[in-house]
Amino acid sequence: MPHPLIEKFIRAGQPQVFAFFPKLEPEAQGRLLAEAAEVDLDEISRLTRTLLAKGGAPGVKLDGLEPAPYERRPEHGGDGAAWARAKAAGEEALRGGRVAAFTVAGGQGTRLGYDGPKGTFRVTPVRHKPLFQVFAEKIRAAGARYGRPLHWFIMTSHANHAATETFFAENGFFGLDGGRVHFFRQGRMPAVDFEGKILLETVDSIALSPDGHGGSLRALERSGALDLMKREGVDTLSYFQVDNPLVRGVDPAFIGWHLLRGSEMSSKTVPKAYAEEKVGHFCTQDGRTVVVEYSDLPLALQRETEAGGRLRFLAGSIAIHLLDREFVRRMAGGASALPFHRADKKIVTVDAMGQAVKPVKPNGVKFELFVFDALPFARNPVIIETLRADDFSPVKNAEGVDSPQSCRDDQLRQFARWLKGNGAAIETDASGLPRLAIEVSPRFGYDEDSFADAWKKLSPRPEIRDGLYLETP
Ligand code: UD1
Repeated sequence: MPHPLIEKFIRAGQPQVFAFFPKLEPEAQGRLLAEAAEVDLDEISRLTRTLLAKGGAPGVKLDGLEPAPYERRPEHGGDGAAWARAKAAGEEALRGGRVAAFTVAGGQGTRLGYDGPKGTFRVTPVRHKPLFQVFAEKIRAAGARYGRPLHWFIMTSHANHAATETFFAENGFFGLDGGRVHFFRQGRMPAVDFEGKILLETVDSIALSPDGHGGSLRALERSGALDLMKREGVDTLSYFQVDNPLVRGVDPAFIGWHLLRGSEMSSKTVPKAYAEEKVGHFCTQDGRTVVVEYSDLPLALQRETEAGGRLRFLAGSIAIHLLDREFVRRMAGGASALPFHRADKKIVTVDAMGQAVKPVKPNGVKFELFVFDALPFARNPVIIETLRADDFSPVKNAEGVDSPQSCRDDQLRQFARWLKGNGAAIETDASGLPRLAIEVSPRFGYDEDSFADAWKKLSPRPEIRDGLYLETP
């Protein structure tokens, strides 16, 4: 009598998952069964019917696609008084302990070619602090500024969960209260071949991979994070990606816009740097806000300009959002759950004899959820403009655009700008890049305001020299 789970797979037309099962050691059998229990067979069969059906996945619908409106910064014609009201409301929410930080760190970081959780990658110019430390210090400093230490949720993957936890423990949580740092694993999805058959990675394991950052919504619910937030009086999650050390993880004006508008999900935008920049585009369609990935927006639209020469689809997504707690709960399951996206990949698998196969061209499909697909379901979504220099310089590639070097330069420009803005003499080139390597610890200043306050109090002022590191005593 086969195991009931194996029977279920056979009935679902997925017997190959257990092809080698009888020959496996009991321990390996147990592992394979545990992995199989993670798989939602109904979901796989639905995705096979919808995303793998003949003709491939339906393309993104372009009818009626318009650029989404957004709140411009005051220096770009936005309403200064409204921004001031938003900032005050956001500060009030932070003093009231209503906001938690949330980092998605479950990605595989393949493009960077770095072995280890991406958050452990060192990025700052003088002290070479890892990404996680930069975020931790910003969160700690914001907690101190508003008199309410923040909770911080970190979504990991099966592959990097243990290493991430160990890294924080070994580093004393970078001065944060460990009881307020919460790690949880995102879900996994099996890869399938083009007929929808679940692929084995080895004879005793399924080819499982993270279910995309959109999986964070269901993982927040499943892990009990939403309940914890509720108990602690936290109703707003400040979402950002692990690859972007410039991010203002806790931004009062953004929080204020979100709360004053009664928004369930809000986002930051920057004008695209150039037409083909690899970011999502904020759009509206049928009265709803949507993000269309660069890979889904035809080049002609990416490049389309208005009469004055400005790009028509200008508002780029930098993957910074605010999420209402009960909205996340609603999106975590039920009828309005997010759609999956299909990505054709080279998936390491085994042949009928159980021998390893390393494909040279895509042999199957991975399914992923994207968090921004929640936007069309949100009540009163708000998009606000931010300055790239204040919020966005991700580390994605080993070299060139969005690399450790470009990110280091952007950090240097930010530190130099803050210093100059407060009257310090520091030489820079035309792009604002200082000639000297300097670094401001987030605990000294993590944004313009906190830096200005700390600088005012600083006596004596340090000499601006190569290697200067500003830290709170
Ligand atoms: C992403 C966005 C893009 C945005 C850009 C800004 C997508 C599809 N695109 O591109 O719209 O303009 O960032 O930088 O997201 N992650 C998980 N689990 C996963 C997959 C990813 O936690 O299963 C996390 C990663 O750790 C990372 C973030 O999500 O923090 C982004 O993932 P990545 O795949 O690098 O996105 P991009 O293609 O760079």
